[in-house]
Amino acid sequence: MTDRQLFLQHIAQTSDFPLGLEIERAEGVFIFGQDGKSYMDLISGIGVSNVGHRHPHVLRAIQNQLDKYLHLMVYGEYVQTPQTQLAHALTQTLPDTLNTVYFTNSGTEAVEGAMKLAKRYTGRLEIISCFKAYHGSSQGALSLSGDENFKRNYRPLLPGIRHIQHGNPTHIEQITHQTAAVVMEVIAAEAGVRVPDAAYLQAVRQRCTDVGALLIFDEIQTGFGRTGTFWAFEGFGAVPDILLCAKGMGGGMPIGAFISSADIMQVFRNNPILGHITTFGGHPVSCAASLATLQVIQGQSAGARSVDTGKLYEQAEAKGQLFRQLLVHPAIKAIRGKGLMLAVEFDSFAVLKPIIDRAILKGIITDWFLFCDNSMRIAPPLIITEAQIREACAVILEAIDASMVVAV
Ligand SMILES: Cc1ncc(COP(=O)(O)O)c(C=O)c1O
Repeated sequence: MTDRQLFLQHIAQTSDFPLGLEIERAEGVFIFGQDGKSYMDLISGIGVSNVGHRHPHVLRAIQNQLDKYLHLMVYGEYVQTPQTQLAHALTQTLPDTLNTVYFTNSGTEAVEGAMKLAKRYTGRLEIISCFKAYHGSSQGALSLSGDENFKRNYRPLLPGIRHIQHGNPTHIEQITHQTAAVVMEVIAAEAGVRVPDAAYLQAVRQRCTDVGALLIFDEIQTGFGRTGTFWAFEGFGAVPDILLCAKGMGGGMPIGAFISSADIMQVFRNNPILGHITTFGGHPVSCAASLATLQVIQGQSAGARSVDTGKLYEQAEAKGQLFRQLLVHPAIKAIRGKGLMLAVEFDSFAVLKPIIDRAILKGIITDWFLFCDNSMRIAPPLIITEAQIREACAVILEAIDASMVVAV
């Protein structure tokens, strides 16, 4: 059987229309197909490869760790240097209150752990999240999802979940003394990259403080340099009680974390003990890869690659601006976003889909959003060069023109 036949026969499918590219290898901003074609990865598969595919500093860290040890013991029992060094480095990027790290395998698990933490710490059960938000597919995280279509057939889900509109100040008063936590993205990714006013996030922060609810920022897509600061919240003047990260954190390896204060995190220690446990969370190889990733993004990797100059996140805004300057076309209705997290809006999915398909044929991978299907997702590795941005935009513009000709 061919690889494609095995894929269709034995890999569980989640749609009837998988992309189905047959991959040989990946390097930097490129993915290479078995057919020898190269594809520029403008979505970082999805939101993960912030430092590009197979960054040499990350590979070296993985190789060094492979020579020492793999899994040793379930979470939190042994002192393991990759975990302690990563936790220290993460907390160095954060305000003093965010000083204690719980490592997970994925973003979803970070969401789950944070929900439990908030319930235990506050003794309340209501959790507020946002319409059109995606926080993961497990039953707890799915309960937070702001889209009934994804939830309907999996009910009953968690009780006590309410939804508000991201960015809408009139909804903030729905956060009350009943609320254990507000789980919110700084920038609403799957809603189509909606950037709120700083004043909105500050008002949510204030309301949470006033009513004793914990503010949980899901930075699983926005963290690790994506939006022009290391963490997106830095650009908004609102500090969460719990911070969630994953995706870009691992440099291509699976890892996530929820980060809070020692005071909040201590509730997992007793009544019952082992309040949250995981076998593989904080896997040493993933932690080593993550520390290397953080170093690359912070410009501390000693020029492991020639494009590594300075803090990668500081380049995100200018690179994002270049996309905005170049992607000018009557079919493009708007471009939203911050740094290298962009949504390019068209009239409809019917207009956008042939453009995405055509661009892939021409070697540029983009996508749309779970809850915004008229907008093209552009979130390339932060290492993308100006020349590569120009090349990608030329292909996208050509794909728009070509799809218009076909439509006529
Ligand atoms: C904002 C956000 N939160 C949580 C998740 C879930 O993360 P994971 O797929 O690593 O479980 C995702 C995944 O797309 C996400 O975008």
